[in-house]
Amino acid sequence: MAVIGKTAATVAMKGGGYYSKSTRGAKDVIDRATPMLLDAAAAIPEPPAGQPLQLADFGCADGGTSKAAIFATIEALRARFPGRQVLVTYTDLPSNDYTQLFKNLLGLAGDPEHNYLAELDGVFAHACGVGFHRQLIPDSTLDIGFSATAMHYLSEKPMEIPDHVHMVGASGHVLEAYAAQAARDWEAILLARARELRPGGRLVFMNFGKDETGRYLGYTDGVSMFDTFDHHWRAMAAAGLISRDEYVGASFSQFYRTKEEFSAPLLDPASPVNRAGLRLISARTGITKCPYRAAFDASAGAMSAREFALSYIPTLRSWSETVFANALDPSRPVDERARLVDALYQRYEDMVAADPSGHAMDYVHCYLAIEKVAKEVSPPP
Ligand SMILES: C[S@@+](CC[C@H](N)C(=O)[O-])C[C@H]1O[C@@H](n2cnc3c(N)ncnc32)[C@H](O)[C@@H]1O
Repeated sequence: MAVIGKTAATVAMKGGGYYSKSTRGAKDVIDRATPMLLDAAAAIPEPPAGQPLQLADFGCADGGTSKAAIFATIEALRARFPGRQVLVTYTDLPSNDYTQLFKNLLGLAGDPEHNYLAELDGVFAHACGVGFHRQLIPDSTLDIGFSATAMHYLSEKPMEIPDHVHMVGASGHVLEAYAAQAARDWEAILLARARELRPGGRLVFMNFGKDETGRYLGYTDGVSMFDTFDHHWRAMAAAGLISRDEYVGASFSQFYRTKEEFSAPLLDPASPVNRAGLRLISARTGITKCPYRAAFDASAGAMSAREFALSYIPTLRSWSETVFANALDPSRPVDERARLVDALYQRYEDMVAADPSGHAMDYVHCYLAIEKVAKEVSPPP
């Protein structure tokens, strides 16, 4: 059985460029929220003379999805502060594919656009493989912190979920344990960013969450993606292909917070986050439609259900595969584990190909703009 523990030990996007290639929806989310980054670029104060402008992408994966937005932000900053050097810090977990990140930034991975490292002078990119629940950047040096689709990952699983793969299917004390971990993690994330930001600096976060009507990733109407994962993983256990422990070990180390849960520590004047100087500028939820479903619908029958399934399953696989792979008993030979994971996604693909109605991975995000008050406030006692 996989050991319950730090998310850093088990989470990774599929590497080798698969993530960005198969995750068009995540790029759509960032591209559409770029005005929030431009607002931040227009609002931050000028850094002290001789210091670079500092940006950070927290939970960057291979950097391909945020490249255009970061390029636009650098251009906006350069228009305000001509000639200023810019440092972009890319952060993710130690297991992330940083080779692919630098290939993407330099335009060595086949994307001819927005390769700012290759195209702009005086722009530097550094990578940090330490999780964002800790402070990663020195005190009061960060101008704009950005994060997309990353902070739903918990620092650690509080427990396995006995009867579902995800907290959206959990209840009672299990759900409470996940909610408590999520609240602790969110406070840690914000306190770390409060230390990193310069006074007047901004955070622009677009995080997976639950909206006002209870919708979340892969469940906006029709079929629930996480129920479908659970259905097939459970069926593989029932068929004796995987053990009960392997079924239970696939609990995602994630939590979808509501807008109220995101906002609470920023709005409560007594909270350590508020006392550290962070203030909420705006919070809203929004849905980004699944581009694979949209292409299928737009094809008006030209695309077969199997073709849709073949285009759709890789986007699910890009972020979920390691959870199932890591739940498998490590004493199984590597190729047997690979076959079991393939079997899971084959079952999902066959289900979609047999009846594609209701299958879509619509994104549900909470968009947050946050600032650190310009005047330093005293830290909590
Ligand atoms: C779904 S991907 C999103 C990547 C990219 N930001 C985007 O929007 O396309 C989530 C990323 O968050 C990273 N991640 C998860 N937990 C993290 C943590 N504690 N610290 C830093 N990155 C983390 C994962 O490794 C993964 O690369």
